[in-house]
Amino acid sequence: MSSKSYFSLLYETFNPLKACGVFLQDSSKSKDKAKKQAILNRLKDYFRIRKQLSLHYEIAKILEAQLREYTSYDYGEGYFYQSCRLIHITGFRNTEARIAGMQWEKYIAGKTVLDIGTNAGFLALEIAPLCKKIEGFDINPYLIQVANCAKSFLKRDNAKFWAGTFEEFNYEQSYDVVLSFANHSTYDHNTKQSIDDYFQKCHRYVSDGGYLLFESHFIVTFT
Ligand SMILES: C[S@@+](CC[C@H](N)C(=O)[O-])C[C@H]1O[C@@H](n2cnc3c(N)ncnc32)[C@H](O)[C@@H]1O
Repeated sequence: MSSKSYFSLLYETFNPLKACGVFLQDSSKSKDKAKKQAILNRLKDYFRIRKQLSLHYEIAKILEAQLREYTSYDYGEGYFYQSCRLIHITGFRNTEARIAGMQWEKYIAGKTVLDIGTNAGFLALEIAPLCKKIEGFDINPYLIQVANCAKSFLKRDNAKFWAGTFEEFNYEQSYDVVLSFANHSTYDHNTKQSIDDYFQKCHRYVSDGGYLLFESHFIVTFT
């Protein structure tokens, strides 16, 4: 089966309205009271998680479009690059573990934050409740669509995501904290600037007395 039809199948299966419809139909057909009750109980479970199902349905549609239309490397190695526990998404890298390793409160509590190369925004959304506001952009527009779906689902109103490159980024404002995590140069060949230009630009967006929080590239070592 091609990857494209795999995603089609996935989101067709997880179309929550379709799934509930099937259960309702089965229930109305059944003459057996216990079976009918069992089907209705299942339907109640579906109802409880319907918003999660709808979210995953939307995300699967975006991933299918990405697979068709986005030719660059997506970093996930078959996963998302970032995990998101809050919406049950597994990632190539564990967002909670990355966050646990840093004293976030100290740096971002009540602050304005810019996340360069935010990817699917899962790290930004995890720390958003601590910040005053967090803004993130990424060159991959499909990941930004995912970020915006997750943002709406999680009601992170202080988060903002848009598709764009750091090279084109040209805001007047600066931020208390700028995050540069694993994207000062990229394997997808989408980084066009020199390392010096990159850091100068980061510096330009950090307010006086603010911080640039930097993570170098994650290296997989094979032993
Ligand atoms: C290794 S991932 C790191 C993602 C995220 N910062 C993190 O640490 O979880 C590199 C990210 O940079 C993005 N990217 C690559 N070139 C970019 C550019 N020129 N401007 C903005 N984002 C870029 C990629 O799409 C990808 O999401």
